[in-house]
Amino acid sequence: MRYVSSGESHGRALTTIVTGVPAGIPVDTASIDADLARRQSGYGRGGRMAIESDRALILSGVRFGRTIGSPVTLTVANRDWDNWTDVMSTQANATTSARVTAPRPGHADLAGVQKTGSDDCRDILERASARETAARVAAGGIARALLRELGVTVASFVVSIGDVSIEMPADPSGVDPAAVESSEVRCPDVDASARMMAAIDAARADGESLGGTFCVTASGLVPGLGTYAEAAERLDARLAAALISIPAIKGVEIGEGFAAAALPGSHVHDEIVYDEERGYRRRTNRAGGLEGGMTNGEPVWLRAAMKPIPTLMRPLASVDLDTHEPVDASRERSDVCAVPAAAVVAEAELAMVLADAYLRKFGSDCLSDIAAALAAYKTRIAP
Ligand SMILES: Cc1cc2nc3c(=O)[nH]c(=O)nc-3n(C[C@H](O)[C@H](O)[C@H](O)COP(=O)(O)O)c2cc1C
Repeated sequence: MRYVSSGESHGRALTTIVTGVPAGIPVDTASIDADLARRQSGYGRGGRMAIESDRALILSGVRFGRTIGSPVTLTVANRDWDNWTDVMSTQANATTSARVTAPRPGHADLAGVQKTGSDDCRDILERASARETAARVAAGGIARALLRELGVTVASFVVSIGDVSIEMPADPSGVDPAAVESSEVRCPDVDASARMMAAIDAARADGESLGGTFCVTASGLVPGLGTYAEAAERLDARLAAALISIPAIKGVEIGEGFAAAALPGSHVHDEIVYDEERGYRRRTNRAGGLEGGMTNGEPVWLRAAMKPIPTLMRPLASVDLDTHEPVDASRERSDVCAVPAAAVVAEAELAMVLADAYLRKFGSDCLSDIAAALAAYKTRIAP
């Protein structure tokens, strides 16, 4: 299972096509819309999110609430398009005087115009904008629908914003989802949430922006998803690539990640135990549920680091594309902090990679065959 997306930030709509979707998966548009709403929310978002109220419209691949084994196409309309019809016209005879010629540091603007030969950063930023991640969340909804049927849940929570951080819980997959969803910054700690919001307020007042870190988890997984045998098919590699593909994500840690590099092996690796009821287990889960490029049966957990939003209301120095004179970088309406939203996008990316890993191991034509193959595998490895 994989997706492609299309669409510009202020274009008419975002579209995604999810391919490799087995038949028989119940698809509930309301739960996709709920994820889209979670992506839109989060303290620190800009004015755009007040305009949009994202809804997924399914155009193909689903009949009577179930997938039929063909590609699933979803669109999410851009309500803001109504305000941008001149600037975003697709007509050959249209022109705009509103070129963007002051590329923003930290964005795709400058390398994008150099690469494509455009003289207008808008040609680049419209697609490079993280508005595209709404399409990812819609696509992820199909992956989540499959995982739900296979007993897998995906979740996330914010660990830090700016310099405000919580201690990592011993079991990240055990974090209470209700505590996360009730926090405006998707952080399970009430006190830290308040301090994170205060940090965002201070950044906004200063014309600044903030980044942070989040944790994304998956529970209910069987061991042996992914492979040790092929570099590109290692599940850890695929997950890291999927998370890094999210705009502004600059680091990914699997389990204890960088901290483990400073510790002796006996403080890092998860001892194997066996009990008659549950079979093989681990005393700890510092590996984040991944060993040798495969799941090991423990919950998967990864952390990702998001850089501060590059569009600054107190802009950094840039150079005008026409004159080569120093100018302030351009200002688009922008988020001050989008770490909570990025965590929701990461759930979609994690779900897509895991759904694909299940299909590779257990077949890909129809849900009942996949469920039967999964049950047979569980029986084979049962105590
Ligand atoms: C959910 C989300 C929302 C974002 N919102 C903004 C924004 O409002 N303004 C902005 O300049 N960058 C925003 N970004 C980050 C940029 O899209 C990103 O930094 C830029 O495309 C350059 O890509 P890079 O940081 O991966 O190199 C957002 C990222 C995510 C994941």
